[in-house]
Amino acid sequence: MQENKKIPLSEPYFFGEEKKTLTDCINSGWVTTSGKYINLLKNKIRLLTKTKYVSLLVNCTSALQLAIRSLNPNQDDEILVPSMTFIASVNAIFYNNCKPIFLDCDEDYLLDFSKTREFISKNTFKKNGYIFNKKTKKRIIALIIVHAFGNCVKMDNKLINFFRKNKIKIIEDAAGSLGSYTKLQNKIKHAGSVGDIGCISFNGNKIITSGGGGAVITNNKEIYNKINYLSNQAKDDILNYKHDEIGYNMRMSNLNAAVGYSQLNKLKLIIKKKREINYNYYKNLSKTPGLKILRENENSYSNYWINILRVNSKEYGRTKNDLIKFLSSKGVEVRSIWYPNHLQKAFINNQKDKTVISEDLFKSSICLPSSYSLTKKEILYISKLITSYAKKN
Ligand SMILES: Cc1ncc(COP(=O)(O)O)c(C=O)c1O
Repeated sequence: MQENKKIPLSEPYFFGEEKKTLTDCINSGWVTTSGKYINLLKNKIRLLTKTKYVSLLVNCTSALQLAIRSLNPNQDDEILVPSMTFIASVNAIFYNNCKPIFLDCDEDYLLDFSKTREFISKNTFKKNGYIFNKKTKKRIIALIIVHAFGNCVKMDNKLINFFRKNKIKIIEDAAGSLGSYTKLQNKIKHAGSVGDIGCISFNGNKIITSGGGGAVITNNKEIYNKINYLSNQAKDDILNYKHDEIGYNMRMSNLNAAVGYSQLNKLKLIIKKKREINYNYYKNLSKTPGLKILRENENSYSNYWINILRVNSKEYGRTKNDLIKFLSSKGVEVRSIWYPNHLQKAFINNQKDKTVISEDLFKSSICLPSSYSLTKKEILYISKLITSYAKKN
């Protein structure tokens, strides 16, 4: 490996078909929000996720925003959300004038269902068929589950049924989890297809990209219709420009769908490579004391779109920040995992429940280069840098 070569964190990879489908859009004139690639991409996602309805949007942040809006929230309704998530999951709550209640995650960076159950039993009460927060007396209308870093949350079927019975909708933030699967009651389900609404991202750094884009997947026709209506300016009478609600302009363009469709055709190949990348990091790093590469949990089939390294600074002899600085100085692009959202300046005054693991994980975890184009040689180079940097006593 050349010393001065830069290795990016997670860059998109294009296979060639993207150019052809983009040219096809331009030649046909269908470049905005209608066209054949919109339908092709929708159908392919429907088949992959085994969901009835798919809506294509400009990004996953908008998908989350409309997912919440489709529940017709009242001002100050509350939504349960893990602190360990990208800020978009929480911003979407505020866009809808609702408030978050921050919950903790487990050692796999995923919402801890046993802590969630405990929070519900100790801190809520039931009235008129809804669940209310004892502290604020506000209604809890949804739970956002985040399938972080390709892994799927270990869901508790009993608690899911409890939420269903008590009008708490489940929104799955599956932004990075296209091609990841979870096991629930011995059934294999695509990430985002277990709850009421799933949201997926096609941002440039994800497992596939549409050059920016998002999708909502659902089996609920009412939710699907509402999201389509809202994302298309809430048109009630198209001829006379009548709009009964405040809508948004959030639909994906045919150009973006063309790129996304071409990429989706390569998903199997991409995941195969991503799984090899994870295995190589695991093989190279796991013998060094204090280092742990995130692997899929017993309930997940992970797409491994990004690799997470946990650093136990006592055993490794260096902190996470030392390692980030060191690798950056060698041209290896690495990054911290998400800052816990209950500590974000804009959210600091919101309710949180036992968010200690989220803080621990933040202090010790980094994202490693994980692009499709990453070679075995590059992984070895990065791994050797990391292992040789361990402080010998
Ligand atoms: C967990 C999570 N949710 C939401 C998003 C937002 O996705 P987008 O960039 O498509 O808006 C991301 C993007 O990184 C994410 O990781």
